[in-house]
Amino acid sequence: MKTLKLNLKDNSYNIYFEKKIIYKIPQYFKENYSGKKIAIITDHNIEKLYRLELNRSLNALGLESKIISVKPGEESKSLETLQEIYYELSKFKFGRRDLIITLGGGVVGDLGGFAASTYLRGVDYIQVPTSLLAQVDSSIGGKVAIDLPWGKNLVGSFYHPKAVFIDSDFLKTLDRRFLHDGLAEVIKYGFIRDESIVHELMKFNNDEELLTNIEDIIYKCCSIKKRVVEKDEKDFGERMLLNFGHTLGHAVERYFDYKKYSHGEAVAIGMVQITRKSEILSLTQKGTSKLLEEVLNKYSLPIETPNMDRKSVLDAVVLDKKSNRENINLIIIKKIGEGIIKEVSISDIGDYI
Ligand code: GLY
Repeated sequence: MKTLKLNLKDNSYNIYFEKKIIYKIPQYFKENYSGKKIAIITDHNIEKLYRLELNRSLNALGLESKIISVKPGEESKSLETLQEIYYELSKFKFGRRDLIITLGGGVVGDLGGFAASTYLRGVDYIQVPTSLLAQVDSSIGGKVAIDLPWGKNLVGSFYHPKAVFIDSDFLKTLDRRFLHDGLAEVIKYGFIRDESIVHELMKFNNDEELLTNIEDIIYKCCSIKKRVVEKDEKDFGERMLLNFGHTLGHAVERYFDYKKYSHGEAVAIGMVQITRKSEILSLTQKGTSKLLEEVLNKYSLPIETPNMDRKSVLDAVVLDKKSNRENINLIIIKKIGEGIIKEVSISDIGDYI
């Protein structure tokens, strides 16, 4: 079993890379917790696929468990769904020595993690990400949040899990669109930090070859994220690099009400747009946007910015940055494998977006 340790001043934890994870977590709980209850926060799709295995595994150890299942999709990252989760936890008499497991993609991890960070002033949780996007990015680093009707991730906290368990076999049941969705974040790591990831992705002949090699790719991405979060846990510096493509990406997602583009698809559009523009501004080595387009195209990710009302997009960009300053930090690629943070005046934002 491969393990990465995320070293933080408080709250260090391990990221375990393991197969058959559903059967191993109850044992982990027995060994580490004195409580008797596990609440599994998941969504209806994952519940359908894994309910039997989950029950079998939890019952074998005599644990009291409850599955709290939400509707799949971004709309569940809401105050209403959060309140339903609190209600279910209360009915279950869930206590402070018990454990929450988030089993699902980015939505479940963000929502369940935020519930854990606030219920009874904070209870322990572990992340079991089942989508590629969550395995390489959102399950690691403690960012948990819900959306408000006027913006994504506007209420949240930095609240680290006690462990992250990554089982790449979950990806076998993932719809191809969502496998590719997660690749947008993988490609992001390649462009900001490690060009070998991009060259590897360019070599695979099909998704089967990709899946055969995916655990090594996930490990590389998690290693980058671990190092970045260790240096800048609260996102005031280097961690901002992980937002490459996200500034426009979040605005695109929201503009189409989270229905037309998945997160990764919107990020793909955001990465291409800013890299084309930074190449024109001579901030980026020539040819970088072409390579970015090629690798995104290969995995059926969109590269063209859709028609949108420019003013509302720029307003959304400013709100998304949660900033009241005159400047915004944008992530620019100097050359493949080297992302930098560039402070740009809000009045110049149109040159980059
Ligand atoms: N997903 C970006 C971050 O964790 O900072």
